[in-house]
Parts: sequence; C-alpha cells; structure tokens
Amino acid sequence: MPNSSSHEPKFPEACMAVSRQELVGLELRVHGGEIPKDLYGHVFIMGPVGTVGSRTEGLFYPGGTGASLYNGDGMVYRIDFDQRSKVSVNSRIVKTPCYYADLETTPGSKYANLSFFNLGMGRLSPVLGLRNELNTAFLPFKFLQDENWRMLVTWDAGRPYEIDPVSLETITPIGWNREWTEQKLVWKTDPYQYVFGLNLTTAHPVFDVHTDQLFMVNWSRSLSTLQAPIIRHQINTLFKGDQIKKLEKTFRLFSQSASFLLRSESKDFVYLMCWDGSNEDIKKWQIVDSDSNSIKIEQSMHQMGLTRDYIVLMDTSFKFGIEQLIYDTVPNNQGIEDYRDILNYPQAPDTSLYLIRRADLKLDATAVKAKRVDIPREIAHFMTDYENPDGCITLHCAHNNGWDPAEWIHDYDAPADQPEKPIGHRFVGMTTGTTDINHLGKYVIEVESGQIYRKSILNDPRYTWATAIGTFNNTVPSAEHEDIYWISWGCWKELMTDFIHDLYASYKYRRIKLEEIKKISEEGKPSSLCRLNTKTMTITDGYQFPPGYFGNSPQFIPRSGSTSSATDGYILCLVLFDELKNELWIFDAAKLSNGPVCKLDHPDLKFGLTIHSTWIHSARSRVTGYYIPVEEDYITLINKQAPEVRDEIQELFQQVIYPNFSK
Ligand SMILES: [Fe+2]
Repeated sequence: MPNSSSHEPKFPEACMAVSRQELVGLELRVHGGEIPKDLYGHVFIMGPVGTVGSRTEGLFYPGGTGASLYNGDGMVYRIDFDQRSKVSVNSRIVKTPCYYADLETTPGSKYANLSFFNLGMGRLSPVLGLRNELNTAFLPFKFLQDENWRMLVTWDAGRPYEIDPVSLETITPIGWNREWTEQKLVWKTDPYQYVFGLNLTTAHPVFDVHTDQLFMVNWSRSLSTLQAPIIRHQINTLFKGDQIKKLEKTFRLFSQSASFLLRSESKDFVYLMCWDGSNEDIKKWQIVDSDSNSIKIEQSMHQMGLTRDYIVLMDTSFKFGIEQLIYDTVPNNQGIEDYRDILNYPQAPDTSLYLIRRADLKLDATAVKAKRVDIPREIAHFMTDYENPDGCITLHCAHNNGWDPAEWIHDYDAPADQPEKPIGHRFVGMTTGTTDINHLGKYVIEVESGQIYRKSILNDPRYTWATAIGTFNNTVPSAEHEDIYWISWGCWKELMTDFIHDLYASYKYRRIKLEEIKKISEEGKPSSLCRLNTKTMTITDGYQFPPGYFGNSPQFIPRSGSTSSATDGYILCLVLFDELKNELWIFDAAKLSNGPVCKLDHPDLKFGLTIHSTWIHSARSRVTGYYIPVEEDYITLINKQAPEVRDEIQELFQQVIYPNFSK
C-alpha cells in the first residue's frame, strides 16, 4: 500500500540500497494479478551497484561513499519470460580488465599503491587510470552474418563491451585500445599513458539494421572548452555579490582545479566511428564544422541517433565537468562548497545538434562536416524517425527543463526550504530533483538549411516532472515513431536542495516560478508513466504511481504474436518504495491508466536505482569470431608505463587480469 502515514510522500529509501549479489535463475513471486500469457522474450536492465571496494554481496548503500549513485559497477539483470509458468532473473556484474584491477588493488592488498578511489561520477587510480564501469545502457545488434542477437553494454566514459546474452559474461571491447583516443588527464605526462585511459563516448550508440552498421563516437574536450561554461556562468553571476573577493576566489579555485584535471594539450575532437562487425579496424571520421575545425562538445554526447540518410550527434544535457569529478579529492571536504560555487554551472539551456550526411561517410574520407542546429531547451534523451523525407529529420525528445541529472545530493547539501539545515546522509548520491516542469518535444528539421521546419512541445502537470527515460516498440520499424512511453521521476521535497534551487533560479525558459516549484515539491508530484502520441502530440494515456513510490527503467515488451502496433504489448517498470521494497510492475501498454496487471518480486532482488533497459525476443549464446585478446590489447600500454611502476603493473595484469580472460 502507498505510504499513508504522512500527508507528504517520502522519497523511498529503497532507491538508495542495492545488492551486489549475482543471481542465478531466481524465480520471482507473482502478486497483484497474473502474468500475461502472451508476455515473452527477455528484458535486460542495467544498474550501477556500488564499487568493488565494498567487497560485499549483500545490501550496499553506494551513497555512503559520498559519490553519485551513478558511480558503480554495472549490473546486468536479465528477466526471462520464456517459460510459461514462471519468471526468473539472472544477473551479473560487467567485469572488464579494470574491474579485476580494482578488485585486487583495494587498500591492504598486495597492489594497494595502484588502488582506485571515487572521484564523484568516476573512479580513478592515479597510476592506472579511470574505471570503465559500463553501467548505463544496452544496444542489441545483429549483423547479417549473425544468427542471434548480440548485446553491447555501454556508458559515457569508456569503450563499449559485448556480453554474452545467456551467460551474461563480459566478452570483448569493441575496438582495440589503439583505435580509441583518450581524453588527456593531468596525471600522466608524455611519453607515459594510462593503461585505463578515459575514452569519452556515448551511452547510446546506434545500429542500423538496414545497412549493417553500428555507429559510436569518441570525443574529447580541450581545457578551454571545459572552461567555457564555467566562465560564462561566473560572468553572469560574478557581480551580484562581493565582487573583488569573489573574483579572486574564482580564479584561484578555477586555476587549481582546471590544472588538476586536464592537461593543457588536451584537444577538442569528435570522431564518428562505424563498425561493420568485422575484425578490420573500425572506420572513423573526424567531425568538423563549416570552417573545418573540430566541433566542440561542452557537456556530453549521452545519446546519438540515426536516420536513413543522416547521423544525429548532440551536446547533451548531462554535463560531465570538473565539478562532477572533484568533490572526493578535496581533503576532508574542506571548503568544498567554495569549489562547487565556483566550478559548477547550470546546464546549457539550449541544445546543439550536429547533423551529418551519411553519404559523406566515404571510406577514403578522414573528416566530415556537420550542420549545427540549436534547439531551445535541454535534451538528454531523444529518438529519431528512420525515414527523413525531403531531407527533413524528425526528432522526439524529453526536455529536462531546469533538471540536471548529473547533479547529486551531497552530505553538506541543505533542503531548499531550510538552507541552514544540512540534509544529512540519507539521500547522498541520489540525483537532485527538477526545478521546473519538463516538456516532451517533437522537431522536424530540414538538414541542409538547418531550419526547424516544425516543432511541438507540451507539458502536463500530471506526467512531466523529471522526465527521464522513454521506451517504444522496437520490433516495429522506426520509420516513424507513433507512440512513445515516458517515465518521469516526479518532484520530491527530499531531492530539492538549496544549491540546485539557486543554480537554476535564473533559468531562461522557466515555466513555473521557483517559489511555486518549492511548494509543489513539498506537496510532491508522484512518479508517472505516460504514452505520448507523436502524431497529435498529446498524452493519450498515463498512470501516476502511488505517493512514495518511484517508477523507473520502463521497457516495452511486444505481445507474443503481435502485429506491428506501437501499443500492442506491455510496459515493464521497476518500482521502489518504502525502505527496501523492489518490485517489477507490468502494465498493458494500451491501458496504462488501469494500473499494473501484475507485480513481481523476490526478497533477494534489490536493484536500487537502475538506468536503461532493452528487450529481445530470444537470448542465445554468442557465436562470433570478433574478439580482442586482452594481453595483446594492453601490452603496448603497459610498456608505456613509467619505469618505477611498470613491473608492478605488468605483474598485476599477468597474475590477475589475463587469467580472467583466457579463452
Ligand atoms: Fe541514457
């Protein structure tokens, strides 16, 4: 039952805890209805589950480290609907070479001087580099030569890896280390290089089933591009307070922090990469502007899209800057709020798209021009129609207005309504709440002219609060998306911090006054699931979760034997409530407002704050020759280590890492 002991809904503490236990054939309990007989296939769900430092297989509270909940090893959950009478779950942590390095270098271990520590949203070993945690999303793909669907696991800061859909074992990265170009960080100077370099990419690469091509990006920022939004924000706010003192503090902290993170020779680049599934090197092109200079990405490239004739790149509203990395490095958090005041900034209120003609992606080309188009309001997630009639692409998106999913609650944060009183540890690590109502949008853009030919946006006070993740029937050819299901996280008092409230006080596209938002968050807006019809741009169905319930990671599952309807199926959501309640709820996609048709759970299933999901109709073992041998992949990098650590790193790889990947 909903939390009825209080008039105001409480953000569920169940979001804050997760189990690192890997599950094998865990049969779920069914209640609140029956499992639909035409539910089939396999849902894959991804969630970060804390770090190896915890060394626990039981419940774990990732926020207890002060880091973002998004900083953690990826756990892959596969929910199997392929047996008539039962639903079972298997799960496995994504185990890359750096996972094993992290596991064997914890304090007190033989290799402790190589150890990793949390760095806000990432996890760094000053000697080895940054963890590739692969905890965000999936990409199912199937080349012509493949008999079965294959599966990538992804995140924004590392090479994607392929997993086996049945065993869930981590198999191989896509692309050799030498095929990826790292973001230069300050701790390693030439000729030395990290063995685990920071390879910035997208968490949502794309696969074109029509042309048998898988597209990814590999990008980097220069120091000046990293600085740009910080300086812009400071110019906007600098003269509102004690000008001289603030000016001095700004430049002192900024210079310390910028030099802390990036090397001055860091460059701006964006490579579009195209993999055809073969063992040949991945083809890549540098993406440049009309003056043939590299395009510059200030925030992130969380999502990309494709159409029949174009690739869509975006500077997405999930900022990843100094302030997302630095918190945990300040001794005893002394003056940490000063750093944040200076280094943090609101996300760009407008979104830049970079549109690339696929016809320009010729084998002998090394650089390709992109058309830049700016869209008002922030975007982190979008879908594109595959067809692009008359050279017009259609983009469907959620605008996360005044909501910054890259910000999380710190233990020194205070509630917006009591700035003098720290929140405490209860929700440390959780993403902060939205400071305005969000929107759903549809844009038709003529690529050659860069003109937004048609646009439609809407908001709904029932359904568009912290609109997070969308899903749709991916078995229907996405020539034109007709119905998209969006889940929104709601508006919660506990997630509205004084800091985030102030950061977005001057938000350019504010729809609801900040004072009103404060009242709304105190009363609470529940999580919700809605269906957007993109033809009429109306919300045609929806469900508000009970107060105190948190709905997340929606996934469309087509009905067995379904034709091609975009509503003929089910929506699975992960639902968290109370202190430790974790459930899977299944909705009829055509009747969301009726509520779930059944619920599934198990005491051992504690997934916490998950992120993305996907669905495939059958999970078969991987049968393919593509494999990058770990030793050959890392040998050059190991040889590039400084003499004083080279032998130790080599021993770590030989003793610990290579044996885990012997075929
Ligand atoms: Fe995403």
